[in-house]
Amino acid sequence: MTTIVESRTASAELFVGAIGPSAEVVPSVDALRHHLEQRPDEFAVVLGAGVNLTAAVSLADTLRVTRPALSVILLRQRVDSSVLAEALRSGMREVVEERDLTGLSLAVRRSQSLYEALTAAHSGHQESAPGRLITVFSAKGGVGKTTVSTNLAVALSDAGHKVCLVDLDLAFGDVAITLQMSPVHTISEALAIVGDIGSEELRPLLTKYSANLSALLAPTSPELSEPIGRHLIGKILTTLKQSFDYIVVDTPPAFDEHVLQAFDESDLLLLLVTPVLPALKAAKVTLETFDLLNFPRDKSRIVLNGYNPKIGLSPSDIETALKSEIFVSIPTEPTEVPASMNRCEPIVTSHPRNPASQAFVALARKCVEVVPTAETDARPGLLVSANTDGRSLFRRRSKTS
Ligand SMILES: Nc1ncnc2c1ncn2[C@@H]1O[C@H](COP(=O)(O)OP(=O)(O)OP(=O)(O)O)[C@@H](O)[C@H]1O
Ligand SMILES: [Mg+2]
Repeated sequence: MTTIVESRTASAELFVGAIGPSAEVVPSVDALRHHLEQRPDEFAVVLGAGVNLTAAVSLADTLRVTRPALSVILLRQRVDSSVLAEALRSGMREVVEERDLTGLSLAVRRSQSLYEALTAAHSGHQESAPGRLITVFSAKGGVGKTTVSTNLAVALSDAGHKVCLVDLDLAFGDVAITLQMSPVHTISEALAIVGDIGSEELRPLLTKYSANLSALLAPTSPELSEPIGRHLIGKILTTLKQSFDYIVVDTPPAFDEHVLQAFDESDLLLLLVTPVLPALKAAKVTLETFDLLNFPRDKSRIVLNGYNPKIGLSPSDIETALKSEIFVSIPTEPTEVPASMNRCEPIVTSHPRNPASQAFVALARKCVEVVPTAETDARPGLLVSANTDGRSLFRRRSKTS
């Protein structure tokens, strides 16, 4: 957040307009000192042109020691070299002419980025985030990405983990229809968030599926996805890691900028392949692309979907061609899997004994083994505890709206 020291109402309104409505205004440096005591997360202070230079310098001198991640931005009617020199010596980050509202807005944004970088580096924020991100990907369409990601998310949540399913197939995503959720709120609303995006800001955008499973749904029409950039996706995914044990990401069949961002944030990448030659060729090219992107091989696993022992390529053919072991094989269930999709109910819920459901449960368990959360590490019985009542290991949960 930003605080502006400005006693002239008209100027204060202009500055708030440039910075954003979350900026707060105080009338004096004394009021600012008091205000900052209550605001440990403030990232910028803007000192209006009415603030006397000596008071501004003295304040900046103190803040650079007591609040090094907080930037002081000085506004002056005219910026000359003597003001600039004194400001920089005292530790102010920027000096901007007061009529340059664009310059002010950019200076505040730079301050925010600096604050985020400094506080993340200091607290090891990224590394200590509890959530693990699992991306389900294939460069080929129709190989089962949505089927696998939805069933994996449900299986993980049934096992007691707090899960968020993100539909990153922004133009044509069908997580909502697959799980029969109405897309009242979607990821495109994140574009309207002013200032920093935190868990509080994201919560209203999520759609609840069950007690442990929420979803961040794709926009309702393709053109709404266009303004969504890679940076925003990165911010959303890292923020979700603060609130969920697992984030499962469904993807479009393409290496678009959003998918590349999800790769960057992924702890585990499930590369789907079906037992047919074109899918195998796509998986091979994808693995080569991972190498070109410097994506660590040890973070990806091959998932064979639609396995049929009587037809198609054999698992050993696939392993030989991809020079990688198959992590989990999901059998083809030509009746039950499409039928469950048409009923908008994941097969792990509707038919828990079906071999495909059991494979999804096994996939969830193996994912937890490969990328445990801090909580599963501390409580190794978490997966098993769901079995103590004699019901299935991954309990069926009723849907809540
Ligand atoms: N193991 C399976 N057995 C039988 N049918 C399956 C299996 N997995 C997926 N399918 C069916 O294949 C079709 C495509 O699945 P899905 O929509 O999950 O693929 P996708 O990769 O997400 O597609 P897109 O690239 O278009 O997003 C669906 O009709 C689904 O029911
Ligand atoms: Mg899909």
